[in-house]
Amino acid sequence: MANTILVGAQWGDEGKGKIIDVLTEEADIVVRTQGGNNAGHTVWLGSKKYVLHLVPSGILRPGKKCVIGNGVVIDPIGLVEEIEGLIRLGVKMGDNLFISETAHLVLPYHRLLDEQRETLKGKNKIGTTKRGIGPAYGDKAARTGLRMIDLVNPPRFAALLKTRIAENNSILKAFGAKPLSFQKVHSAYRAAGDRLQPFVTNTVVLLHEANEKKASILFEGAQGTFLDIDHGTYPFVTSSNTTAGGACTGSGVPPHRVDRVVGVVKAYTTRVGEGPLPTENAEIADLLHGMGREFGATTGRPRRCGWFDAVATRQAAMVNGIDELAVTNLDGLDTLDSIKLCVGYRVGRTRYAYIPNDVELLAQCQPVYEEFPGWKTPVSAVRQWKELPLKARTYLKALADRTGARLAIVSVGPSREQTVFL
Ligand code: GDP
Ligand code: IMO
Ligand code: MG
Repeated sequence: MANTILVGAQWGDEGKGKIIDVLTEEADIVVRTQGGNNAGHTVWLGSKKYVLHLVPSGILRPGKKCVIGNGVVIDPIGLVEEIEGLIRLGVKMGDNLFISETAHLVLPYHRLLDEQRETLKGKNKIGTTKRGIGPAYGDKAARTGLRMIDLVNPPRFAALLKTRIAENNSILKAFGAKPLSFQKVHSAYRAAGDRLQPFVTNTVVLLHEANEKKASILFEGAQGTFLDIDHGTYPFVTSSNTTAGGACTGSGVPPHRVDRVVGVVKAYTTRVGEGPLPTENAEIADLLHGMGREFGATTGRPRRCGWFDAVATRQAAMVNGIDELAVTNLDGLDTLDSIKLCVGYRVGRTRYAYIPNDVELLAQCQPVYEEFPGWKTPVSAVRQWKELPLKARTYLKALADRTGARLAIVSVGPSREQTVFL
């Protein structure tokens, strides 16, 4: 398989985990390059459910190497819990996992500050996962972060942690929050450091050497295009570059080594957390929640739902350079009489073909819809494009056409087998 970047082309939770699991069959290495344990990627193998937060979803395929790249922020305790949880589920975790020395750490003060800042924002909150992601990337940019290479060096870790806890305790006190005990944090994180130490390495060199040997690399994006710190609906975004460029900076693999970008979308739209969602629709949300679907894999929050937004996905195709589109959750629309597809935005008489950068203007945008008849028949047993109902194919073709990318994969259920290749 060609070196492939897989990105979410909406607001996250597009079904990246499932598509990564499918594509890993043809890959040698799977790399996470940004985000942290705010991500929740679900993979079903038979009746077993796996939710990956930091470990690449490729770990579920024996013989594949998985890398947590330099662009990821790692909560060491969260990662140890995830590794132990995977081992309990029978997954081999040993020389198949590599963690970058230069990945930054998420520490308890990051989580506490995330929580305090959200509380302070009140009704203007972002609706973060409270995993400390924003403050951790903030420290990275401010050059006050600690990295994996520090965690596995006990004297250096102790010294750096001491100064960081002292500074952050004064900020926490100003918020009226309880300060942290250096001793407690130090002993818990050192223990996690010892557990993770065997996995920690120079992943940039590892990936370079793999490239020299023509290994095929799959980059597992986390979050989605409109949660990107630069290209998303700022400030209602996460704190990393979730778009295709982030895969290069977050791994050290140069752009000319990338052959293909796959964008994953749901056949409708979801978003969890605050911020504008032009096609939001209560009926679809009720329908999907009633089916037990669209609850967050990380926080369990109900996801907001709406019609497919081709204005957004066209922009996602533009900023990611999407070559191929993977559409998931087609089966979620099986029962509808009629399906809407957003092809433009309108504020009064002004039409917008792209997402306006002013988030307040975006919040006023009214979607302009094209309407398609529903297929009203279950599609989850379909395995071939030609077996899909004609109305479903018409809808999918229109969705890809309005997005401006080639339709390559359609997912009709959560398991590996429920996948149609075009
Ligand atoms: P990710 O964060 O992009 O990996 O997506 P999540 O795992 O957070 O959310 C996607 C949800 O959709 C998960 O529960 C998946 O098991 C599920 N899923 C993925 N593709 C399909 C599909 O085609 N049909 C159905 N019914 N569920 C799907
Ligand atoms: P995956 O990889 C969906 C959202 C949060 C919030 C915003 C900022 O599973 O697609 P953060 O905790 O990152 O500071 O929160 O981003 N968010 C996600 N939404 N899927 C995710 O990951 C997300 N990770 C963060 O809900 O709106
Ligand atoms: Mg998710």
